[in-house]
Amino acid sequence: MQKLPSHAHEVPANGPAVVTQFLDVETPEMRSLYEKAKRDQWNASSDIDWDSGLAPDCGILPDGLIDIYGTPYWERMSAAERLQLNRHFSAWRISQLMYGEQFALMVCGQIANAVPGIDAKFFMATQVMDEARHSEVLARYLYEKVGVTYPLTSNLSDMFDRVLETPLWYLKTVGTQLVAETLAVSLFRMLADHSPDPLISQICRRILADESRHMGFGMLSLPEQVTELSDREIAEAEDFACVATAGLLQGQFPQEAYEAVGFSKAEIHDIKTMRRTAAEKNEYVAFRQYFKKDFHTALWSNMDKVGLLSRRAIDKLGTMGICAPERSAAAA
Ligand SMILES: [Fe+2]
Ligand SMILES: [Fe+2]
Repeated sequence: MQKLPSHAHEVPANGPAVVTQFLDVETPEMRSLYEKAKRDQWNASSDIDWDSGLAPDCGILPDGLIDIYGTPYWERMSAAERLQLNRHFSAWRISQLMYGEQFALMVCGQIANAVPGIDAKFFMATQVMDEARHSEVLARYLYEKVGVTYPLTSNLSDMFDRVLETPLWYLKTVGTQLVAETLAVSLFRMLADHSPDPLISQICRRILADESRHMGFGMLSLPEQVTELSDREIAEAEDFACVATAGLLQGQFPQEAYEAVGFSKAEIHDIKTMRRTAAEKNEYVAFRQYFKKDFHTALWSNMDKVGLLSRRAIDKLGTMGICAPERSAAAA
């Protein structure tokens, strides 16, 4: 067994590698997605204006996304303290996105092996490159511009490992292109449209252009695959989607960011409780409502489009507060 540094871990990931001897165009829509991916490659080193951004008095995420925004904790802080919390809170959140990009890179390499069709293999080769670029660009932003990174949460790590471990390519696609990328797109859109920092907005706009192709892969490859599955396998894929969603949404409290700016253990405990209560009553400020609605609507509609939204999947999503788009719109 190889010796790994303390910041790395190994995942047992054996699955079948499918070799095909038919390399002509098989699925024209997938081949055209591959053509678009080749056409729209960009270079994180030269296509981003690295000299811009992160002015001394500039936050990264909108303040409204910070749990304590609008509470007495927020009111008592000076402008400088709020800015410092914003930077740490944002670095914590973007660190999780950065690890997610590396995870996507690795899973797509596995899908390129396991998926049977050549067009899908070609497209996955471009997604591996896209995800390498996304990992690179977020890492450079955090290490070079913000100067802070935070560790991967255990919930996300478990979710990533689960997707890497399954030998079935379509479950990897359910966990990655269908669920994780839907959440990532909502976060990137939020940053692109509302961040006070022009550099991260620019980076996220670039990433979003790639992500729409990645979600396109799920939409093109999954519906036909789902029609070939047995009822038991469909139930397994739905459960996989719901477990992946829970892995992304739960246990995502930026405790280390609050600690870094001097909050006490008791205060952090109080903030966690406040956050839970707000979630139960759906009393989020405008930005969190907007984000939640965006993610829930997209996930619901994507699961529906690929044929993974049975009554039991709807019930499972409901336990996480995810309901039909009309209802979530009415609740917002
Ligand atoms: Fe990505
Ligand atoms: Fe992606």
